[in-house]
Amino acid sequence: MKIRSPIVSVLGHVDHGKTTLLDNIRGTAIAHKEAGGITQHIGATEIPIKVIEEICKGLLEKYSIQRIIPGLLFIDTPGHEAFTTLRKRGGSLADLAILIVDINEGFKPQTYEALNILKMYKTPFVVAANKIDKIRGWKAHKNSSFLETFEKQVPKVQQSLETKIYELVGSLHEEGFNAERFDRVTDFTSQVSIVPISALTGEGIPELLTLLIGLAQQYLKDQLTIESDSPAKGTILEVKEEKGLGTTLDAIIYDGVLKQNDKIVLLTLEDVVVTRIRSLLKPKPLEEIRESKTEFKRVKEVVAASGVKIVAPGVKDVIPGSPLRVAKDENLEDIRNEIRKELEEVKIETDKAGIVIKADTLGSLEAVIKLLKEETDVPIRVADIGDVSQRDVIEAEVSKNTDEIYGVILAFNVKILPSAKTILEESGVKVFSNNVIYKLIEDYVDWMKEIKE
Ligand code: GTP
Ligand code: NA
Ligand code: MG
Repeated sequence: MKIRSPIVSVLGHVDHGKTTLLDNIRGTAIAHKEAGGITQHIGATEIPIKVIEEICKGLLEKYSIQRIIPGLLFIDTPGHEAFTTLRKRGGSLADLAILIVDINEGFKPQTYEALNILKMYKTPFVVAANKIDKIRGWKAHKNSSFLETFEKQVPKVQQSLETKIYELVGSLHEEGFNAERFDRVTDFTSQVSIVPISALTGEGIPELLTLLIGLAQQYLKDQLTIESDSPAKGTILEVKEEKGLGTTLDAIIYDGVLKQNDKIVLLTLEDVVVTRIRSLLKPKPLEEIRESKTEFKRVKEVVAASGVKIVAPGVKDVIPGSPLRVAKDENLEDIRNEIRKELEEVKIETDKAGIVIKADTLGSLEAVIKLLKEETDVPIRVADIGDVSQRDVIEAEVSKNTDEIYGVILAFNVKILPSAKTILEESGVKVFSNNVIYKLIEDYVDWMKEIKE
């Protein structure tokens, strides 16, 4: 038994500062000369507890927070889509999340989008109210705790920050959350903490990290207890071509151990693929990357929780969001069937009348279906991964004969193939296309209302 690092997803509206926050945490770590202590991965950054302790500068002691977890595994998300990919069946892959909001801009479409995803998967989160250094008149105190820097601001600036925080409290309230500035929170299980920070100056980051460590250890201990020598379980974040390596898989391992030569089972659009790991790659610590041209370092194994790049033959058609399981000869069939079931649980194919849904990843398809079911009682005829094809148009056209509002394709983050375009107009099928899930559903719901009037 072992306690693994919690997986912390960072999400929020575009340019609200997700990557800068992680850069700051990593940068601080480099400044502290923790070479080798930090592993950065495309999308995943492992921050050891020692580095966090240094950033927190005594706050862990001040609040009597023990150090049980080995660190935090951060996942940076571009917009929201990666996060929906980052889920495993029965819940989200993220144990915890940071919802970043630019304090000067407040809630924006992707903020709501992210919040909806957190709600859907019941992921505990804290709100980082970012860019406090941009508040008019703010005097920055680099890497200082929020409470210290706040005390040093003039009353007018303090008031300005309070007003902006209460706007966030209001926005969260409208979405059904009881939120407060972190130092006024009385019950961490029922209230959402807002931590004012600057990803640029580092202000407030000590409290943000202290809070994450505290929450993880107090409320997620069972969830974080794993078998460290059992076969790995993970999720594929991205499938991408890498120069000289061919198709590689960026994965998050959330349970067990993954070894070179392990036989792994993954999902493709059509079925399941079984392959053997040729090599496991971890990016070198930041300083080493600067010095040498080779970005990756080969490792023999990785233990949860960690991010890793996998090189293996025959993985070109693996779908982002696919589960990853290690199989032995004796349980290969069982695992193959389990993995296959994951796709079948999300994929829908019936001959009943209903709409067609197409999405880019397993996670996003699941999220679209979930949200549609929450907002409407419209039946689904086809739900699948991939671009909108001629066949999809025909399926929707058939449904349209039953009810006009079924003659619809919801397309999330996918293209409409040229062959589909040629028959679309004549078919009278309506395509809703959006890369914001809740907008996609909203547009469809609004259109239905119009039709019914
Ligand atoms: P996407 O990944 O594109 O969704 O954006 P992001 O949320 O990762 O934002 P990013 O970190 O790229 O920051 C966007 C811009 O805001 C950059 O120019 C940052 O330098 C700036 N920025 C981020 N955080 C802060 C902050 O705390 N203060 C100030 N002044 N600028 C910030
Ligand atoms: Na950006
Ligand atoms: Mg970013």
